[in-house]
Amino acid sequence: MKPSSSLSFHLLLLLLLPQLLMAEYAGGPYQKAPDDDGDKLDKHYYARSCPSFEAIVGSKIAHWHSVDPTLSPGLIRLHFHDCAVRGCDASILLDNPGGERRSPVSATLRGFHVIDDIKAEIERRCPKTVSCADILVAAARDATLMVGGPYWGNVYGRRDGRVSIAQQAEALPKGRESITHLIDFFESMGLDILDLVVLSGAHTVGRATCQSIQYRLYNYTGVPSKSDPSINPRYLNYLKRKCRWPSAYVDLDATTPTKFDNAYYRNLDNRMGLLSTDQLLHSDSRTGPLVAALSSQPMVFVHQFARSMKNLADTMVLEGDEGEIRTNCNFVNEY
Ligand code: HEM
Repeated sequence: MKPSSSLSFHLLLLLLLPQLLMAEYAGGPYQKAPDDDGDKLDKHYYARSCPSFEAIVGSKIAHWHSVDPTLSPGLIRLHFHDCAVRGCDASILLDNPGGERRSPVSATLRGFHVIDDIKAEIERRCPKTVSCADILVAAARDATLMVGGPYWGNVYGRRDGRVSIAQQAEALPKGRESITHLIDFFESMGLDILDLVVLSGAHTVGRATCQSIQYRLYNYTGVPSKSDPSINPRYLNYLKRKCRWPSAYVDLDATTPTKFDNAYYRNLDNRMGLLSTDQLLHSDSRTGPLVAALSSQPMVFVHQFARSMKNLADTMVLEGDEGEIRTNCNFVNEY
């Protein structure tokens, strides 16, 4: 599909979604069987081999969220970083020199200890059965629920990869890219423009280090004391006060930072996107109309987020002999 026709298709879809949603909740024709896309992942994959898998993940995520609620956004991001490099194969968890986890792009990733804790409990109950890749998928879904986002049914059966290369993680978007670059990057993962705009809405929760946006505040494009003119002046003042050190944190969603809602898109209308890539989604002609639709229809965002997260979790999945079930998520098996 050409970009312009693909955009009108997505816009039409978004505009019609409220009606389609009603049909879906009424059990209407819009309902798509989860497994009718031909892959071998299955919602009942662990039904016999580890029936308590999802219950263990759910209770562990609830526990860690109560200890530190900021871990939940961290887990959603961890899942994205896993799937975006070599597919959803838990390669991000491998803790070897030269691996993705040791790349500078991964420096602020969080939640590794939560995955380790879940894996340890699952190995006690169902040894050598559940992949770390599936644990990440389930953990990201339950972390989304913890911050007030939607529930969706996952399919499972992914295998864990044996390869992790730091240099490949460098390709992950860092917040300074063009929209064309982001569209191409998402396309390389099998995701489309709608997925890009909707999944960027994950920035409705969580935080960034000031280092990631310092270049927008000072010496923008190399001009001393210049700031990115696309930032709302009052928001710019706030950011300058908040970001006195590169290691300080600032909320990705300036208005409702801990709540999963569509305020992220409404902030873009007010030129209050934290990352330049966030704000560009609003101004670019290919993504702007989708931002406008999502900022005016909160339920559409919530519903489409669940769909796009399922698409994300389908990225280049390993099955059967292509991968293994790691016993420790941090290392490949030795036997
Ligand atoms: C579209 C391209 C994307 C770019 C350029 C991007 C960039 C970033 C950056 C720069 C940060 C802050 C890193 C730091 O300074 O510590 C961040 C945080 C975050 N990102 Fe993204 N991201 C993108 C897509 C996504 C997607 C698809 C998801 C999930 C589905 C996601 C979820 C998150 C979350 C939840 C955080 C906050 C993490 C925390 O609080 O620890 N991002 N992102």
